[in-house]
Amino acid sequence: MFIPVFRKIACSFLLVIPALLVQAQQSPVVRVNVAQPVADIQPTMWGVFFEDINLGADGGIYAELIKNRSFEFFKPLMGWQIEGSKRSEGDVLVLNRQENKSSNPRYIRVQANNSDLQMTNEGFRGMGIKAGLCYDFSVMYRLRSGNVKLLAELLDAAGKVIGSATLTPEISDADWHTQAVSFKANATELKGKFRLRFEGNGVVDLDMISLFPEDTWKGRPGGMRADMIQMLADMKPGFLRFPGGCIVEGYDLDQRFQWKKTIGPVEDRQLIINRWNFEFAHRPTPDYFQTFGLGFLEYFQLSEDIGAEPLPILNCGMACQFNTAELVPMDQLDPYVQDALDLIEFANGDVTTPWGKIRADLGHPKPFNLKYLGVGNENWGPQYIERLAVFQKAVKDKYPSINLVCSSGTDPSGERFDFLNGKLREMNVELIDEHYYRRPEWFLENARRYDSYPRTGSKVFAGEWAAQSDRIASTENKNNWQCALAEAAFMTGLERNAAVVNMSSYAPLFAHAEGWQWTPDLIWVDNLRVYGTPNYHVQKLYSTNKGTNVLSMVQNNEPLAGQDSLYASAAWDKATNEIILKIANVSGQTHMRTIQLDGVKKLDANGKLILLRNTNISAVNSFENATNVSPVEQQIAVDAKKKSVAMTLAPLSFSVVRVKVVH
Ligand code: AHR
Repeated sequence: MFIPVFRKIACSFLLVIPALLVQAQQSPVVRVNVAQPVADIQPTMWGVFFEDINLGADGGIYAELIKNRSFEFFKPLMGWQIEGSKRSEGDVLVLNRQENKSSNPRYIRVQANNSDLQMTNEGFRGMGIKAGLCYDFSVMYRLRSGNVKLLAELLDAAGKVIGSATLTPEISDADWHTQAVSFKANATELKGKFRLRFEGNGVVDLDMISLFPEDTWKGRPGGMRADMIQMLADMKPGFLRFPGGCIVEGYDLDQRFQWKKTIGPVEDRQLIINRWNFEFAHRPTPDYFQTFGLGFLEYFQLSEDIGAEPLPILNCGMACQFNTAELVPMDQLDPYVQDALDLIEFANGDVTTPWGKIRADLGHPKPFNLKYLGVGNENWGPQYIERLAVFQKAVKDKYPSINLVCSSGTDPSGERFDFLNGKLREMNVELIDEHYYRRPEWFLENARRYDSYPRTGSKVFAGEWAAQSDRIASTENKNNWQCALAEAAFMTGLERNAAVVNMSSYAPLFAHAEGWQWTPDLIWVDNLRVYGTPNYHVQKLYSTNKGTNVLSMVQNNEPLAGQDSLYASAAWDKATNEIILKIANVSGQTHMRTIQLDGVKKLDANGKLILLRNTNISAVNSFENATNVSPVEQQIAVDAKKKSVAMTLAPLSFSVVRVKVVH
């Protein structure tokens, strides 16, 4: 049995399998029927799930380096240190203009009088600064009296200036103005800081003190961290789910994600606390807020950039049921439903529609062609079904072609799941969102989960899942090879059942090494570096070797799903005329298989093998050893005459093979 074997390996840590173990025996035959694909694989099959957790957005893909730029955190000066040898009472005041600007009420008033007054921002666990790169400093100001010059400085960890510029407020009147200056850094620093010094004598009001590197994704000012986005682009994901996750629900309804508050000028996007700020007592993150510098327009734009179908998820009138579980009374649900209808118009309406015009005015006249909309994240119970039914009717009446993605709760089995799954199928929703954060063994045991799912009716969106080396929300969870390999094995079952499973995404996506709340995560970053976990490589191997159709792949007429600890699936790629095989060997032994490719006339004798393996199931990647578990490409011989591939499946390995059919 494979499971005990897997457990045994878990105890032995380092495994070196002598070549002697390779049995010189007749290889069992695995037959792939190339002539008759059994199902389509949706272009959306392998996607990514983005949530602002673990400093995913602020302090993550949102490239803003200043923390608390608008003084709207609970503690208005959090992240800032104000110093000066001759400080006087009231030289820096926090003012509140609630009546005039309820979305961004606070600003600071600085009294400068030729002293050494300075304020330093610590960034998000420091600031990643790169030598030779330009940084764009901008600020909203109102010069009240006198003349004040702002000296913007980048500091290294020791406090040495590594780049600076002067900004002289030009207009002196009663209005707010924005001014910007760019300057180059002359050193690289992982833990940089930003300092503002004041020269001259006068009073100046400041808000939205901002600093961005110029090397953002696609060079967009005020944009995203390019190295992190590149990791997503490299996956060629079929969809991008945003903005969560539990942040969609909010701790309470006030703190739910409201997309309309995330578009338009950034200074008008009302900040809220991030629910991951205080969710885990063992991982408190008191400086975690959502500034919404990344809003729905940016998420749609990102989806377009990386060729992924946008999949926004909206609040369904329920706050997080692990927290307050607040409900909107049924007779007050309309604004929530209207948000959904308006979002579809915002994404798809032509420029003559009210929300289509807003999109165009924001710089994107072309519709985004939204096809999927999630209603509710991890919501459950009859209260969810009741609310969902109202959304479903309203959306389908107006936009019948929109596919609704609906919650089956937090777990892949049990009473809650059975209730929701049954109801959602009765309601004939297009996609049911299943979540499973489970031990690696669960993933192996469930490799055939979808073999018995109905082929008609609602499809599955495996929307959030990841193998947990320890238990859910444990800080001990590791992105190790054991988990990644179990996921690779499980995914053969998703691919085999692409007729049922139309979308899948690992979760969570990003984690900052010093700012995370939840582990495991697909991609880890610090302020300058990023690395993909073994799990990332598994996801990427699937999404970049997706194929267009499922092929039957059987040994003794059974799918290979655990026999000899092997798991396999096959796909056809009609775009390239290739057969794509995926085989995970979760055992400590080498296994031989002859893969017989039935129903083809001619094969290219040179196949490609992409091998992901490690002899140690505890192996992980890290900033220092980012490629410890990473794919290696090599040739594999194809017996063009016999139409077969002889495979030596290394212990603890995941193999992807591409074989070209020639005409
Ligand atoms: O992915 C982390 C969290 O797990 C998500 O926010 C939530 O949907 C699930 O419980």
